[in-house]
Amino acid sequence: MNTNFHYLPCALQDELRRIANAIVAPGKGILAADESPGSMDKKFLLHSLPNTEENRRIYRQLLFTTEHLEDHISGVILHNETLYQKADNGKTFGDLLRQRGIIVGIKVDKGIVPLPGSLDEGTTEGLDDLYYRCGKYKRDGCDFAKWRCVLKIGKHVPSYQAILDNTNVLARYASICQSQGIVPIVEPEVLVDGEHDIIRAQKVTETVLAAQYKALHDHHVYLEGTLLKPNMITPGQKCPRRNSPEEVAYITVQGCLRTVPAAVPGIVFLSGGQSEEEATVHLNAINNINLRQPWELSFSYGRALQASVLDAWAGKRENIPLAQGELQKRCKANGLARDGKYVPGSIPAFKPDKSLYVEDHKY
Ligand code: 13P
Repeated sequence: MNTNFHYLPCALQDELRRIANAIVAPGKGILAADESPGSMDKKFLLHSLPNTEENRRIYRQLLFTTEHLEDHISGVILHNETLYQKADNGKTFGDLLRQRGIIVGIKVDKGIVPLPGSLDEGTTEGLDDLYYRCGKYKRDGCDFAKWRCVLKIGKHVPSYQAILDNTNVLARYASICQSQGIVPIVEPEVLVDGEHDIIRAQKVTETVLAAQYKALHDHHVYLEGTLLKPNMITPGQKCPRRNSPEEVAYITVQGCLRTVPAAVPGIVFLSGGQSEEEATVHLNAINNINLRQPWELSFSYGRALQASVLDAWAGKRENIPLAQGELQKRCKANGLARDGKYVPGSIPAFKPDKSLYVEDHKY
């Protein structure tokens, strides 16, 4: 074990800490809009919309030109394609967001591939040229990044092999980002797929998070300049026993207290297939639970911020104002929940009972 390492220069530490803290400012959270071009297929197909670069641009323009977006959104995660696409006024989406006071994030992983030798598990690729890509993204105005790893729950999984590999890949990614002035969002997602109960989900999530912080420590990652993006701890999608929002909140915060160091400024949960209302109600309960909370507890939602928007828009120009209104509602609801002030049911989704669960979800 080598204990002879250098901390990052003080100015770099200060910059990373400032960015991370700004992302988890009170009343605000992250809009994850970094779906890869391929994974927009399913979303657009529902409305018979061709998944072209231009349609993706029109959709992202709808999101990023929504009035008052900055009231509850501190940061937006973009895909490489979107960062350099332009709004109708000629500004790149990166510039447009920054000028609105929104911090620009970039998805830097290159997706999940099989992990040979494991029981149908995966690992995430993209480390090869990451150092150079991060340098370029920083120069092009990105201040934070996302990398998603996934772990499955089953009788014999997640395996030690998959936990070790994925948490180590995330730690390598995090240390590379920080060297370039980019705050890494560390996302070791334990998938909701399966019949397991909440206690099994808790044990797996705690094991993964404990391994994650060991790996980050081994790679000398500056924790004050990171954010964690975990799953909330819930029963598996097919588990017949459902838990109340208070139970989910208690177990989620308890799991984090046991594994996530207090030096981490914020935990920004993913929505992971929960309905829009469910994701908001759970975040609200998490912020109200009577346990110590040494970190900010906020959101970094993809599906739970965009499902109503897509339904209202349906690919039609005349529906853009309606769709933007839906985005404002979801942002407001989660901005309130992030401070524990959301009244359940008070800001309904466009299609209230719609399930957002997708088996083996790809991003
Ligand atoms: P969901 O909120 O749809 O789970 O996605 C968030 C995300 O960015 C996953 O990487």
